[in-house]
Amino acid sequence: MNVWVTGANGQLGQALQSVSHRFPEMRFFWTSHQDFDIRQPETKFCGSQNISSWIKQNHIHAIVNCAAYTQVDLAESNPQSAFAVNAGGVAFLAKIAQRHHLRLIHISTDYVFDGKKNTPYQEDDATNPINIYGLSKRAGEEAILNIAPKNAMIIRVSWLYGMGENHFIKTILRLWQMQKTLSVVADQIGSPTYALDFAEAILTILPKINHDKPQIYHYANGGEVSRFDWARTAFEWQNEAIKITPTNTKQTFQGACRPLYSVLNTEKIQRDFALIIPSWQDGLRRYLEGLA
Ligand SMILES: NC(=O)c1ccc[n+]([C@@H]2O[C@H](COP(=O)([O-])OP(=O)(O)OC[C@H]3O[C@@H](n4cnc5c(N)ncnc54)[C@H](OP(=O)(O)O)[C@@H]3O)[C@@H](O)[C@H]2O)c1
Repeated sequence: MNVWVTGANGQLGQALQSVSHRFPEMRFFWTSHQDFDIRQPETKFCGSQNISSWIKQNHIHAIVNCAAYTQVDLAESNPQSAFAVNAGGVAFLAKIAQRHHLRLIHISTDYVFDGKKNTPYQEDDATNPINIYGLSKRAGEEAILNIAPKNAMIIRVSWLYGMGENHFIKTILRLWQMQKTLSVVADQIGSPTYALDFAEAILTILPKINHDKPQIYHYANGGEVSRFDWARTAFEWQNEAIKITPTNTKQTFQGACRPLYSVLNTEKIQRDFALIIPSWQDGLRRYLEGLA
């Protein structure tokens, strides 16, 4: 199976690159933002070729879309940029998937929910994004559902971390190095997801997709935790005796509202694809071991 991964230099793209050797039956084509901008489908692919002829020439069977505008706070003042990538770009990929009969895995987010529930969100729960990023990601989901390519899958994931510098755990470690004290919100509850676990799940699922209509699934490491307890656990396991104090979302408002509760129910993906999903503690332990 020949698999085209967009946004390949982002956090999830890097995680997919890391686990790709475990899937020798797949041949990967990695494109970064520079190689191919999903907002500008008319642009020549990798600077030279038309996208359709590139797909045919390389016998592409599947797209995994990791390209996204992910700057949640910045999106509030740049809605057009967020929508251009997260909705317009995704619509383009859905049309390409439909035209060329490609499998499509598109990644979405827990931020399509408003966080007012207090039990894990199911795939068919009503969406109600409370920030621009969430609205733009929901618009991307709707584009796929409307264009309706066969064998398309939208996987919502929550609190992704693991590769690169641009995620919660790296941010708190960096802040602590600079300030030596830290306060972290205790009223946001979610399920941290280790990017390598998610990447492995995506590539396990990809050959098994068999849907006439696009399907939505949820993926996250098991269990739930507040950001405060997640940070506290990470420092504890790093043997760092640090003073970390709980705060709340109102006190630390950064620009975009965030859902207070965004735990995803993952029973459907576990059942349909016989996946065993590690707990968030297990993911965090392996991540920290990798840092050592
Ligand atoms: N991170 C999280 O906590 C989280 C949580 C839930 C869901 N998600 C979803 O998971 C997916 C992967 O997230 P991530 O953490 O890997 O994000 P990321 O690290 O920000 O990676 C996104 C990648 O997309 C690229 N990109 C941006 N605009 C593009 C465009 N117009 N054309 C092509 N590529 C473009 C970026 O390149 P440049 O950096 O060069 O612009 C970047 O490499 C996204 O769909 C995101 O919405 C993430």
